[in-house]
Amino acid sequence: MFHTKATKMLGIEHPILCGGMMWVSEATLVAAVSEAGGLGILASNMFPDRKSLQREIQKIKSLTKKPFGVNINLFPALRPPNNQELIEVCVEEGVRAIETSGRSPEEYVKQIKDGGITLIHKVARIKDAKKAESLGADIVGVIGYECGGAPPMDETTTLIQVPLAADALNVPVLAGGGIGDGRGLVAALALGASGVIMGTAFMATEECQIHHNIKEAIVRAQATDTVPVLRSIRSMERVLKTSLAIRVYEMEQKGASFEELIPLIAGEKSLTAWQGGEVEEGLIPLGQVVGLISRVKTVKELIDGIVQEAEAVVRGLEGLNQRTGA
Ligand SMILES: Cc1cc2nc3c(=O)[nH]c(=O)nc-3n(C[C@H](O)[C@H](O)[C@H](O)COP(=O)(O)O)c2cc1C
Repeated sequence: MFHTKATKMLGIEHPILCGGMMWVSEATLVAAVSEAGGLGILASNMFPDRKSLQREIQKIKSLTKKPFGVNINLFPALRPPNNQELIEVCVEEGVRAIETSGRSPEEYVKQIKDGGITLIHKVARIKDAKKAESLGADIVGVIGYECGGAPPMDETTTLIQVPLAADALNVPVLAGGGIGDGRGLVAALALGASGVIMGTAFMATEECQIHHNIKEAIVRAQATDTVPVLRSIRSMERVLKTSLAIRVYEMEQKGASFEELIPLIAGEKSLTAWQGGEVEEGLIPLGQVVGLISRVKTVKELIDGIVQEAEAVVRGLEGLNQRTGA
């Protein structure tokens, strides 16, 4: 068992969070992660109005009595949701934690904290980590270049981001990007993190409701089968190397404009992948950790396996210390 400042603050058993994921993090997955002792985080961008968010939160509460979180997405959007209203719902429903991401959470910090909710802000730059702490974030998640979703534009990896953040902050730090097993958890704790935020690995679970073709593609994929796209419009995402992703990447290399890219990158375009299972036709965020995933597991199997492997790794390291220290 690994008890950290973050597990204590969040009231969870294991220092493992499933970050909010658009298209992925709905009630069934969120509840399964929390029920297995981690913290599941609902993606409010999938339920962007008061009624649908409330319904989904109530569904989670019918599936688990354990703490869970909600992601409030602050990334630029064509139709931005009314985040104040969504946070109000979280307060009314007694949500334990809110994960914000995408830009500074400044205008929502007071509302979240007055509502008694733990604020986790997720960043890709150390300067944003420091800002988040100064604004009152209780926990800061920091992600590295290998992550699925939006990696740092400056390409700094998790191995560097985490110790920099741990040195710079007083609040607990969570490590995200490239973590999918017990070795990754121990490495993150050794770097100074108080826990991990994982995304990609939770997509290959039975409780995850995504199309089975995507899960099969994840199991087949190697670590080299992802590509960062949309760097040219400063909205970089690491995605699975599908036909569409390669097309977008190549168009960017040739200097395509935003207007030229938009028909390919609009959310609706990828619906055929997410809903119809036409994987090659979508932009599917996925991290390099995909190379470590060899089968679909239950969420409990995944989390228990990570914790057991991490305990074995720590025992192995202690043994190493005794042998070499003699
Ligand atoms: C399919 C997918 C969708 C994601 N959507 C979001 C999102 O909407 N908001 C967000 O803050 N992070 C999002 N992320 C990032 C994850 O919450 C998490 O930080 C990241 O996956 C951790 O890196 P890993 O994939 O290497 O484990 C997404 C990641 C994936 C794989």
